[in-house]
Amino acid sequence: MSFPLAKHIAHSYVKHYRLLSCKRWVRSRINSSDIHVQLLGPASSIRRQSVFTPRRAVMYVPGSEQKKLGKLEGLAVDCAVMDCEDGVAINRKDVARENIRASLDSLSTPGVGDLAVRINAMDSGIVSDDLNIIYKAHNLPKTLMLPKVNTQNDLHLFSEIFVDVLRTKNCPNYKAKLVIFTESAIGLINLKDILQEGMELSKTLPFQLEGVVFGSDDFCADIGASRTEGANELLYARQKVVTTAKAFGLQAIDLVHINFRDLKSLETQSLEGATMGFTGKQVIHPNQVDVVQRAFSPSDEKVEWAQELVKEFETHQQSGKGAMTFRGSMIDMPLVLQAKNILSLVKTNDNVKR
Ligand code: COA
Ligand code: MG
Repeated sequence: MSFPLAKHIAHSYVKHYRLLSCKRWVRSRINSSDIHVQLLGPASSIRRQSVFTPRRAVMYVPGSEQKKLGKLEGLAVDCAVMDCEDGVAINRKDVARENIRASLDSLSTPGVGDLAVRINAMDSGIVSDDLNIIYKAHNLPKTLMLPKVNTQNDLHLFSEIFVDVLRTKNCPNYKAKLVIFTESAIGLINLKDILQEGMELSKTLPFQLEGVVFGSDDFCADIGASRTEGANELLYARQKVVTTAKAFGLQAIDLVHINFRDLKSLETQSLEGATMGFTGKQVIHPNQVDVVQRAFSPSDEKVEWAQELVKEFETHQQSGKGAMTFRGSMIDMPLVLQAKNILSLVKTNDNVKR
């Protein structure tokens, strides 16, 4: 779909709510980007975002499995994803949608920071069925996850269906947080354009793009790579995902560690992802959550380092000097920004220390 068509979707959405005398919705959209400021990466300048949602661990729960959905009532995790896509067999999609709709209204999940829903990919042809059933819930999902985004056109097609579905609901103040997936060679090549378009559409449509998930296993299948323990075959893709996401001030969620009983190698891979700049990691089992959330949290020593560095840098700046020495290392603006990232993460969520 061309940019004019995307503008048309945005226009018709705004017009629809104007017709319903819901100008409040339009006003809230205009101001929403000014509410909070969150630094997401040292390479980025200050990013404007609505309230920050930590997603250190992003845990999948197959929507077709009622028992596992029920487990969410007793679990503590930054983000739980009720899944309609790859965790659900093709002949159980209808069960998954109904379970998810019911769960949104009935589950009490005080330990889950972000209760998200992953719908199917645009090329599945069943996105409209997913959204139509799930959006019958009284409590709408805060976060929607859209897998296998390969082109800007996938975002446009999603927007059309999403706006159509919301038209049937009276929810003028609703704005979903959107997280998209990169899972193919073409999706990776197009990622910059996709994110640029996603940010543009977020200005007027009822969603806000917040992050990118790297769908490692689909990506391996797509390029004909074989998964290895060290994941060297994925290094380029991971670095490209994290760099592109951070260029737009978005979260970057790293690969799944499928050997879910091996917590030692999970920790190694999680720390590696955090070092590379990822903000979180996908998990498939509740036992993986703590290891991952610890790995994506700054340590007490790192927080102390950041606090002292920023304090000293400010004093140093007042004396009119640039670079300085701090604990034996040269410090300039990029290091100061890294330290500020750490402090802003801790401020956002007091629990994020390891
Ligand atoms: N969400 C919620 N609860 C889960 C869970 C999940 N993802 N994975 C396991 N559990 C529960 C189990 O139901 C079990 O509960 P019980 O003790 O009351 O029986 C408990 O945690 C321990 O599970 P365990 O026996 O160790 O694992 P399992 O054999 O039941 O399940 C998997 C293993 C991999 C099938 C399961 O973890 C799973 O379904 N993960 C999600 C897979 C997925 O969504 N993949 C697609 C995205 S990559
Ligand atoms: Mg996938």
